[in-house]
Amino acid sequence: MEALQNIRERRSIRKYADKPVTKEQIAAIAEAAKMAPSWKNSQTVRYYAVMDTALKDRIAEEGTLNFSKNGNNIRSAAALVILATVDGIAGFEPDGTPTTAKGTHWQSFDAGIACQTFCLAAHDMGLGTLIMGIFDEPKIRELADIPAGESISALIAVGYPEENPNAPKRREVTELLQYR
Ligand SMILES: Cc1cc2nc3c(=O)[nH]c(=O)nc-3n(C[C@H](O)[C@H](O)[C@H](O)COP(=O)(O)O)c2cc1C
Repeated sequence: MEALQNIRERRSIRKYADKPVTKEQIAAIAEAAKMAPSWKNSQTVRYYAVMDTALKDRIAEEGTLNFSKNGNNIRSAAALVILATVDGIAGFEPDGTPTTAKGTHWQSFDAGIACQTFCLAAHDMGLGTLIMGIFDEPKIRELADIPAGESISALIAVGYPEENPNAPKRREVTELLQYR
């Protein structure tokens, strides 16, 4: 798939087919996502792929801050990827002092780049994704055994799409872009 076509056509998918996704497919997506740029190439993003339905259902039930739409999204998807980042590296000097005034901003920045790279790679492989920001971090940390020293940036549902939604309206480039 052409890169621009991929960028244009990727959509958030909230309804998935009852069809499994394999560990090999998730690994192939992660293989592409690892090429995402990062702060000083520090590569602090970690992917925890929940393939076990019972655990995925518990996260849907207990880890979504009672936002039931995300519970349904997670239950519907074949896999759930927990995107985490190692704390205190991106944006920081080796002695722990922040390199810029933006503190932990760069850690989230790297997570975002990796997240979109992951979703675009999945789309290229015929899989749908949904990035979710509404989740209960302490609960998911406990349920999925996410190590101390890592923060959970986002959840990504992954599965075969069973819907083909239109793109939500985007602002005009004239509103987004200015020249100086
Ligand atoms: C950081 C972030 C958090 C999001 N959180 C949620 C979420 O919790 N639940 C959800 O259904 N969609 C969530 N979305 C998906 C957005 O609603 C979606 O990307 C946006 O409406 C544009 O649609 P598109 O992805 O199909 O282009 C999130 C997207 C981003 C980037």
